[in-house]
Amino acid sequence: MSAVLTLAPAPARRLALLGTGTVGTAFVQRYQSLLARGVALPQFSWLANSRTARVCGHAPEQELQLANLAARTTPALQPWAEAEGLQRGDVVVDATASDEVANWHEQWLARGVHVVTANKLGQGAQLARAQAIADSRQGSDAQYGDSATVGAGLPLLSSLRALVAGGDRIHRVEGVLSGSLAWLFHHYDGQRAFSDWVREAAGAGYTEPDPRVDLSGEDVRRKLLILARASGIALRAEQVRVASLVPNALAALPADAALGALSQLDAPLLEYWHQAQTKGGCLRFVGGFDHDGASVGLRILPLDHPLAGGAQTDNRVAIHSDRYQQQPLLIQGPGAGAGVTAAALLDDVLAIVRR
Ligand SMILES: NC(=O)c1ccc[n+]([C@@H]2O[C@H](COP(=O)([O-])OP(=O)(O)OC[C@H]3O[C@@H](n4cnc5c(N)ncnc54)[C@H](OP(=O)(O)O)[C@@H]3O)[C@@H](O)[C@H]2O)c1
Repeated sequence: MSAVLTLAPAPARRLALLGTGTVGTAFVQRYQSLLARGVALPQFSWLANSRTARVCGHAPEQELQLANLAARTTPALQPWAEAEGLQRGDVVVDATASDEVANWHEQWLARGVHVVTANKLGQGAQLARAQAIADSRQGSDAQYGDSATVGAGLPLLSSLRALVAGGDRIHRVEGVLSGSLAWLFHHYDGQRAFSDWVREAAGAGYTEPDPRVDLSGEDVRRKLLILARASGIALRAEQVRVASLVPNALAALPADAALGALSQLDAPLLEYWHQAQTKGGCLRFVGGFDHDGASVGLRILPLDHPLAGGAQTDNRVAIHSDRYQQQPLLIQGPGAGAGVTAAALLDDVLAIVRR
């Protein structure tokens, strides 16, 4: 007589969200609207910011509001770290810009917890951290969903990885990689002060929480590092030459004072605008890398240049590889904004759940 084996059901996969700001809020809204349309998603277990962590049950929207009302503490806390309780197979979503949270990616993966991130500091900061994340991925069956980190979900990373997997060598990648700077240079007309446009972009949620992160080129540097590393090039942050738009005096100010001092940008930007007019070109903030190095900065491009087109927050990226030698593969589309970023995060969550 043969014994009948009964397997215990696998524990239900759960979802946790870190970051309840612009992107975190859009993530919760999209999660709710997909659920209402009958899409199968993991149960929302808890969400947290730097002030509080809240168990969600069936009402993540309400808990998100309460989390955002929690009192601020100095220094910022990691209230979720003590009791995060994530188990193998759970999915944690990082919608923060926090270095401390990015430092956890590696150990979550090593424990079999899937990580989905809009935070570029996992793969776009120190090379050692990016390599530790890659090693943890290989050593466990946990996935790392990073499509929101560059191009807010545009098929940039997936295209590069597909080319590399198909045996292509990536020769050069260059592009308009900042949706906020694309928006600024599509609108700036030398008439209204540049700083006014920056405030408008920040108000629309296009910039990083501190717009100097975009204007300094630091955000583009991080994206270049992520793209280069996905292309098989072990690029280090200090190998990227960055020409910042932020004058030193503005860079030195604390974040709360910087917004009031943005007019320091106006005179140099007006000068660049006049130079572009004289040459019959347009201003674009471009980042690029090849096997000899990488650079980020403002360029005057001819109007028919492949990177000159697009509109609004469009990213526009040219990939040169073995099969795309004469003409690059061009990828263009909206590359900033909470809606597309949240959609990219949920795409990655769904890809993990459906595997
Ligand atoms: N906005 C966009 O269009 C866009 C597009 C692509 C990618 N991203 C990326 O998405 C991320 C979030 O951007 P955002 O615009 O949503 O920023 P945000 O509005 O400033 O929100 C950041 C959130 O992270 C939380 N946080 C900070 N440190 C934390 C910690 N140690 N532990 C837990 N939570 C912490 C903050 O909590 P407190 O409020 O308590 O400080 C806040 O809820 C960033 O990495 C950004 O680069 C944004």
